[in-house]
Amino acid sequence: MRAAVVTAFDNPPRCEDVPEPEPGEHQEVVDVLAAGLHPRVRSQANGSHYTSSGVLPLIPGIDGVGRRADGSLVYFLLPPGSSRGSMAERVAVDTRRAVTLPDDSDPLRVAAAMNPAMSSWVALRRRVSFRPGQGVLVFGATGNAGQLAIQVAKELGAGTVTAVGRGAARLEALRDVGADVVVPLDGDLGEAAQAVGRAAAEVDVLLDYLWGPPTQHVLAAVVGSRADPARRLDWVQIGSVAGPDITLPSAALRRVNLRVLGSGQGSVSPEAMEAELGDLARWIDAGAFTVGVQAVGLADVEQAWTMPVPSGRRVVVTPTR
Ligand SMILES: NC(=O)c1ccc[n+]([C@@H]2O[C@H](COP(=O)([O-])OP(=O)(O)OC[C@H]3O[C@@H](n4cnc5c(N)ncnc54)[C@H](OP(=O)(O)O)[C@@H]3O)[C@@H](O)[C@H]2O)c1
Repeated sequence: MRAAVVTAFDNPPRCEDVPEPEPGEHQEVVDVLAAGLHPRVRSQANGSHYTSSGVLPLIPGIDGVGRRADGSLVYFLLPPGSSRGSMAERVAVDTRRAVTLPDDSDPLRVAAAMNPAMSSWVALRRRVSFRPGQGVLVFGATGNAGQLAIQVAKELGAGTVTAVGRGAARLEALRDVGADVVVPLDGDLGEAAQAVGRAAAEVDVLLDYLWGPPTQHVLAAVVGSRADPARRLDWVQIGSVAGPDITLPSAALRRVNLRVLGSGQGSVSPEAMEAELGDLARWIDAGAFTVGVQAVGLADVEQAWTMPVPSGRRVVVTPTR
């Protein structure tokens, strides 16, 4: 069968012939219809993800939508560190990490949205005590995960959703997917941070996809702007597209009721992640969220890695379509 194969961490994968997968205990082999090219897949393929084993060659892809031997559709999540990923004509999936989809599901839509939507869905349902009516700020709202975070927060009952990101026009468009307030992160970072701080005065949960310098500046401004210092603010670290590190001033943690925590593979148990798959897949499949998809055949997987893709649109590789 054919698969995308990474043979060097500094090169994109290529479509090659590989042996068929052999199912182990609790596994079944499915035909892969769609597999998302998420940032997590890029970091798997270049060896930089914290779960990377460093072993090559590997087939990239952490999840996808497949067809079982009986014809039914299934969304599946592969285990972290797996070297036989979903960008292949067939893959062995763990039946405990798979959910059956309705026959009329759109595989591309589900494959595109599950990973980015899961980031906020799991954070709000599993990492913080989020209650309907609370205020949520999405920090880094223009990407796939950020746009879906706005929609997820609304679906889960957020009172006000504030979207922060770069590109004023793109940000303004996020009102169409549910943002109540938008704050651009363009120009001088210090000034932009003050505006974000004012907007966050009464926010309860901040979903952070950026980290690095933007978080460094904004965290100080937010701490200095809280309307009630004792009101709890859960700052949830989810992505780090702007940098891996910040310096966290000790006073920030005393001055206001700030709790900094992360959400991802490891901090959320596999069981908790699996338990959320079904509900989220149903929401996505029902069309509750706006999702942008760009389909690419397996033969063109090398180009898929380098092609320019507009913000908020997810490349999906389609091995058997
Ligand atoms: N922990 C989890 O469970 C989990 C799950 C899914 C995703 N994630 C992480 O979440 C992050 C976002 O994922 P995604 O799927 O949304 O990726 P994406 O679709 O590629 O979006 C990334 C967004 O970040 C923006 N961006 C990049 N650098 C920025 C900066 N310095 N300041 C402001 N915005 C910046 C980009 O804007 P431009 O278009 O202007 O470049 C783009 O809109 C990634 O780090 C991913 O690994 C985590």
